[in-house]
Amino acid sequence: MSLRSRVTAPDEPAAKGGPGDGQLVADYRAKLLEEIDLAEMSSLGLSERRDRLERVLGHILSREGPVLSAQGRTLLIRRVVDEALGLGILEPLLEDASITEIMVNGPDDIYVERSGRVERLPLRFASEEQLMQTIERIVSAVNRRVDESNPMVDARLPTGERVNVIIPPLSLNGPALTIRRFPRAFSLAELIGFGTLDEHLVLLLSALVRAKFNVIVSGGTGSGKTTLLNALSGLIPEGERIVTVEDAAELQLQQSHVIRLEARPPNIEGKGEVTIRDLVRNSLRMRPDRIIVGEVRGGETLDMLQAMSTGHDGSLATVHANSAEDALLRLQTLASMSELQVPFEALRDQINSAVDVVVQLVRHPDGARRLAEVALLASHGREPFRIATLAAFAAAPMTTEGHVPGRFVHHPLPRAVADRLYMAGEQVPQAFGVHLDDTHLAVREAS
Ligand SMILES: Nc1ncnc2c1ncn2[C@@H]1O[C@H](COP(=O)(O)OP(=O)(O)O)[C@@H](O)[C@H]1O
Ligand SMILES: [Mg+2]
Repeated sequence: MSLRSRVTAPDEPAAKGGPGDGQLVADYRAKLLEEIDLAEMSSLGLSERRDRLERVLGHILSREGPVLSAQGRTLLIRRVVDEALGLGILEPLLEDASITEIMVNGPDDIYVERSGRVERLPLRFASEEQLMQTIERIVSAVNRRVDESNPMVDARLPTGERVNVIIPPLSLNGPALTIRRFPRAFSLAELIGFGTLDEHLVLLLSALVRAKFNVIVSGGTGSGKTTLLNALSGLIPEGERIVTVEDAAELQLQQSHVIRLEARPPNIEGKGEVTIRDLVRNSLRMRPDRIIVGEVRGGETLDMLQAMSTGHDGSLATVHANSAEDALLRLQTLASMSELQVPFEALRDQINSAVDVVVQLVRHPDGARRLAEVALLASHGREPFRIATLAAFAAAPMTTEGHVPGRFVHHPLPRAVADRLYMAGEQVPQAFGVHLDDTHLAVREAS
């Protein structure tokens, strides 16, 4: 069913006794909730919950409802069920899998993002009060409060969506609500289909992950770091103990032995904050085989690097940077934000021994996300960073539509990498092969 047939246009008349009558909707919502226990339905999916509520409400209306046209009856059922489910007119938007973001800028102004494009919907809340009620329902479900003394809330719904609320007087448009849908997980096969990488790269990355190379995924905002990290995590063999640490849980690992940790912001009194850093440190005491850090942004980088170089091989993380060199320098800067005051040279040592490979992603102007490089960190000890390219995207000039044509280039792997793969029972993918004489490796320095 299309979105527009599910919801009503803002100018539909709210005739008294008709399906648009707010009082009628409220009355039947109350009657419905008398007959059904919403808490009992919490294990059901949204569409199952909706079906169940629609059926029960249908019975109630047949028994004691007003006389309505078939269309009016359908409309009333929709309205009441939307209200009962808790998010009112937002409910069908949350059900629509093609929507990635819902933006409510006050009661009359609702936008969604669908396949990367933002559109305004012909929808509105009946009043600012109704919008506030919806917002209160959302934040109270996660034990948070929003009011004048606490006018900004950042939370996550039990179903995974990120929610941000900011209300007047801080927001001048009225209450503003932003809901970001749980990102969809893509498989490596789907990423090949998008042109993000090719099958030879998937073979290489699979071998590296299974052979427990420490991998950093680097890229700008929205370049697909979390998506690739999630897909790579799927290659970790079943049976290994994995601990994931994230600011806002996005990873969707399928293995059975996974412990997911999520940081917590301070509460209203400014207490109870648990940082990524606390969680990374705690994860080390949990005897993990691998640690996955959603994104390093601060001092936790040092803890993560220490973990990577002391027995937690095969760990994965993402960092925000625009090239492989940048990623290494950024890790160094972030690690220096730890209160331990480790000298810069010593941090280089730490990174040289912790990081094996950087996978760099880019987002092209046409919206395509692409693997730009697989970079091997070839330096040791306190040496300046030296990078050898294992694979890269050779870009041709961009078209006027922002499309970037080109092809992936695969370089022979250094002997040491091939040996490590063989030792782990992995193959060197044919498209790569092995370098016979490493002195001819194309390496560059990062400074
Ligand atoms: N390879 C890809 N091709 C197309 N879309 C992608 C790809 N990777 C991610 N996306 C989409 O781009 C958006 C941002 O992805 P995400 O992985 O969260 O990026 P980042 O972690 O770098 O900020 C999401 O909507 C996601 O579905
Ligand atoms: Mg991310």
